[in-house]
Amino acid sequence: MRYEVIESTERGESENGRRSEWGGRRRKRMGYVFGERVAFLLVGMGIASVMFQMVLPSGSVAVGEEETELGAAMAMAMPTRRVLLEERKSRVPLGVKGRKQMRILVTGGAGFVGSHLVDRLMERGDSVIVVDNFFTGRKENLLHHLGNPNFELIRHDVVEPILLEVDQIYHLACPASPVHYKFNPTNVVGTLNMLGLAKRVGARFLISSTSEVYGDPLQHPQAETYWGNVNPIGVRSCYDEGKRTAETLAMDYHRGAGIEVRIARIFNTYGPRMCLDDGRVVSNFVAQALRKDPLTVYGDGKQTRSFQYVSDLVEGLMRLMEGDHVGPFNLGNPGEFTMLELAQVVQETIDPNAKIEFRPNTEDDPHKRKPDISKAKELLGWQPSVSLREGLPLMVSDFRQRLFGDSKLTAGKSVSAS
Ligand SMILES: NC(=O)c1ccc[n+]([C@@H]2O[C@H](COP(=O)([O-])OP(=O)(O)OC[C@H]3O[C@@H](n4cnc5c(N)ncnc54)[C@H](O)[C@@H]3O)[C@@H](O)[C@H]2O)c1
Repeated sequence: MRYEVIESTERGESENGRRSEWGGRRRKRMGYVFGERVAFLLVGMGIASVMFQMVLPSGSVAVGEEETELGAAMAMAMPTRRVLLEERKSRVPLGVKGRKQMRILVTGGAGFVGSHLVDRLMERGDSVIVVDNFFTGRKENLLHHLGNPNFELIRHDVVEPILLEVDQIYHLACPASPVHYKFNPTNVVGTLNMLGLAKRVGARFLISSTSEVYGDPLQHPQAETYWGNVNPIGVRSCYDEGKRTAETLAMDYHRGAGIEVRIARIFNTYGPRMCLDDGRVVSNFVAQALRKDPLTVYGDGKQTRSFQYVSDLVEGLMRLMEGDHVGPFNLGNPGEFTMLELAQVVQETIDPNAKIEFRPNTEDDPHKRKPDISKAKELLGWQPSVSLREGLPLMVSDFRQRLFGDSKLTAGKSVSAS
């Protein structure tokens, strides 16, 4: 402002001719400068748009079948991520013989399902990293891999972030039985951290969800299209709703950030290496029958469940991970048993004289549970092959060893029942 005042005063002292001459020169100079800048600006914009066309040919990120506004915005913000994911897609030929060795993270790999999955992945020749806080898992379940250069075991709680360069993540870390998850619900924060890791390193991510997302189902058997009947504030809801939220997060990362996710809804699974006293019905009955305690049946024993042997589940998880479909997929055995029928099979297998004791039922215990597995059959070519009467004796011999013999002897035993 002061500059303008001084200038106008000085010019005011000049002759009129000089003033108009100066004014003309000034206009010319401004016109030249303005024209030059606009030209540079236009050339710059042209170069920038050519560069963007080269990096992002479609101008948006493809998320599943759809292209979204958000996807387009993210593609603009993260061209490197998009390129990285596409490179990975073409680099890792999935599920074919002779493919490159992959580095695979299994969270919760020291637990029951996780340790059997690790066995299969190691057997396939992949490099496996297990992250586990040993809340319900045991080092004994993995002892037979210690010392193998393809295997690493890290004590870590997934509620804290961790950075690992991996191609795939099987996210299993989560206490799975009522007696444990009430004290340590890790679903939401743990899943968020592992999805963040998948996004950062461009890994494919499988979440082990559960049939509990159907709650006390009003549809029978349960198909993946059923949205469930869950009490959001009950004693089981930290698990049920936690898993539902985990599925939501997985889908949001898939749609919003282009992460390749796979969702498995696991139904009751049993087998060697289950926790001995974790309150799950099969392990409860087997341990009770072996200890000569009465089998405790909650309620009238007419509620139904389906029981899947662990090697069937592991096969399903691997097919899901290697396949092209996000899911969710029900992974379970459609054979349906009442609690009383299960108690009978346990009596036949272990001790025909085992007594049955009735107790009041627990809160929010689902009345019926049976998976509709048509989707997994059709799209994954998967179905369980081990019946309860075949699988139970394999679990019983492991429990017998752990209860009465040397537990180390059983840790490395194969679980394949086929
Ligand atoms: N077994 C089943 O019948 C069944 C049914 C449905 C879903 N699932 C799911 O499958 C997964 C594995 O279940 P499982 O039966 O092997 O249970 P599990 O308790 O034997 O295994 C869980 C593992 O996760 C680990 N873990 C727990 N919290 C952790 C944390 N914060 N950080 C790191 N590690 C942690 C435990 O130490 C354990 O090794 C779980 O996500 C569970 O919800 C299992």
